[in-house]
Amino acid sequence: MDQETSISPPLSWKESGTGSPIVFIHAFPFDSGMWEAQLTGLRSGWRGLAVDLPGFGGSPARDGVSSLDGYADDIAETMIAAGATPAVICGLSMGGYVALSLYRRHPEAVCGLILCDTRAGADEQGRRLERLRLAQRTRVDGMQPICDEMLPHLISITTRISRPSIATRVGDAIRATDPESAALALTAMAHRADSTETLRTIEVPTLVIVGSDDEITPPGESQVLTRGIRGARIEIIDDAAHLSNLEQPEAFNRVVNTFLSSNEMDATE
Ligand code: MLT
Repeated sequence: MDQETSISPPLSWKESGTGSPIVFIHAFPFDSGMWEAQLTGLRSGWRGLAVDLPGFGGSPARDGVSSLDGYADDIAETMIAAGATPAVICGLSMGGYVALSLYRRHPEAVCGLILCDTRAGADEQGRRLERLRLAQRTRVDGMQPICDEMLPHLISITTRISRPSIATRVGDAIRATDPESAALALTAMAHRADSTETLRTIEVPTLVIVGSDDEITPPGESQVLTRGIRGARIEIIDDAAHLSNLEQPEAFNRVVNTFLSSNEMDATE
């Protein structure tokens, strides 16, 4: 009998296109579905893979403990199973925390970084306690408390008034999330490592993206990332808050595709 050599991936993913890989890591408490417009809008020559973190979308939940470093290890394993190493890693918010952990733990898997609406620092003590309290509440009351707390800050007020369907879609996505997996992710974020020291070790082309109206990870946090990473560039997406890729997909795709077509990243060369 043939020896079994294939690795079974710990995570599920959606994908589009062929060529050099770019891996998208979603925000909390969403799944790979939040990258739909990026998978369909990716420039030719690139293969997009949007992963589901454990317990989100199609990925199996973890029993008991989760950590962002564990999520990063799962992504590295999944990338090998998918034949997608090394890749450009694009993470938004929690996805950005995981992208920095992935770079720290598996630098050989990363040939470029896109850090969106995220930050390098760990939680302050007060924020950590709030998160742990919200995790407890989520286990008792389900996803509605998270929806009530986050929704007003995820999408800009202009979009909420002019395109209410976007806020409806985001609210529906939050409520569809498994509460136990959300509680584990909140706990994982509360205990995440500070990635500030990682920034100066980054040696791959890096793009930083932030919505002009982001209140959760404000543009100042993106300036810290840009100043800390050698050669990094920043793009500010106007009329967008925290979920800049959902709120302004065309502008977001434009800056991503321009970055991917820049000299260092060109998949066709
Ligand atoms: C996210 O969008 O992933 C979360 O808002 C991140 C966070 O709460 O720190």
